[in-house]
Amino acid sequence: MNLAQRALGISPSPTLSIDAKAKKMIAQGLDVINFGVGEPDFDTPQHIKDAAIEALQKGMTKYTAVAGTDQLKQAIVNKFKQDNGLEYQPGQIVVSCGAKHSLYNAFQVLCQPGDEVILPAPYWVSYLEQIKLAGAQPVIVPTRQENDFKLTVAELEAAITPRTRLIILNSPSNPTGSVYTRLELAALGEVLVKHGIVIISDEIYEKLLYDGLEHVSIAALSPELKELTVVINGVSKAYAMTGWRIGYAAAPPAVAKAMADLQSHSTSNPTSIAQAASVAALTGTQQPLQEMLVEFNRRRDFMLEKIRQIPGVQCRQPGGAFYLFPNVSSYFGKSYRGRVVQNASDLADLLLEEAKVALVPGVAFGDDRFIRLSYATSMEKIAQGLERIAALLAGIK
Ligand SMILES: Cc1ncc(COP(=O)(O)O)c(C=O)c1O
Repeated sequence: MNLAQRALGISPSPTLSIDAKAKKMIAQGLDVINFGVGEPDFDTPQHIKDAAIEALQKGMTKYTAVAGTDQLKQAIVNKFKQDNGLEYQPGQIVVSCGAKHSLYNAFQVLCQPGDEVILPAPYWVSYLEQIKLAGAQPVIVPTRQENDFKLTVAELEAAITPRTRLIILNSPSNPTGSVYTRLELAALGEVLVKHGIVIISDEIYEKLLYDGLEHVSIAALSPELKELTVVINGVSKAYAMTGWRIGYAAAPPAVAKAMADLQSHSTSNPTSIAQAASVAALTGTQQPLQEMLVEFNRRRDFMLEKIRQIPGVQCRQPGGAFYLFPNVSSYFGKSYRGRVVQNASDLADLLLEEAKVALVPGVAFGDDRFIRLSYATSMEKIAQGLERIAALLAGIK
């Protein structure tokens, strides 16, 4: 059976496949330390689970409105107001099956063949595939390690053509953990407004910030920017709810309607019970999130200290999310027991096979000089894993 052209171009998510490979090795009894994970290792807080159980007992097991229940949409409207200073009507909110689905809907309703989408690299891998699936042309714009992997105004201006339709911004970023400041966003925003470029602002890591950094939504900077922006967020990362599959978007009314209409013919509403749980996540106590943040912060500091002690590895201090993104290119062109390491992919293979440490090579994010390590795992595992990495790297000559 022949596959459609559209399907032939899709690459499977490398982050999910590395995680799956590591989990399989662990299931086979191998002692693998998994730094490939993209989800908090904490359990969903009890009050959120209780809300789901209550919804189930109350019989909230039927279809809901396609774009989400009134209660959840109101909770999201309130969240945007309180956290981001953004005023939306419930009709501007679309709840979907994870932020990934929200992004998919947004690209589908906003892009078409002939459109160019600016994608600053390193980027989260699904953006690239989703842009292509929408028939648009990704324009990958490399950012610089020296600039904390943040797009500059000059880089943005150089990438704009008459075909530029959209840009994707992700702060805090996966994989780099970089966080744009208000001033940086305002400077980029000025150029984007001048050219009428639509912004998809993925703010899924909003709550996972350290060092007193502030999260700013570019949509909140001016009415013009709000009109041009689709904000993406969700409960997966902040509330350890990756399996519940609830993400959401806030957009100008016509865009939100188109996204909901599209969704009405694909998944319909996201799971009713997960929606009830998400209301509890957004409106209930934020104490579990605070506790998770303290722990993530402790782990980040520890992992960063250890990784910086390894000769030839450079790593910036990331301000958000739960990843380190060190540069390992000083090892390229050298060998480990006769195996040449040409890039981060070779190194990731070597680390998994020889040191039993799983991590994601930077090729998944558009720059194969780097590796991504998640610290969503215990301190003990971080200590062991880093020892293994240091030992293997010491053997590369
Ligand atoms: C930058 C970014 N956006 C979106 C998502 C998707 O989140 P969800 O699990 O809610 O679909 C992820 C998950 O890894 C992510 O890292």
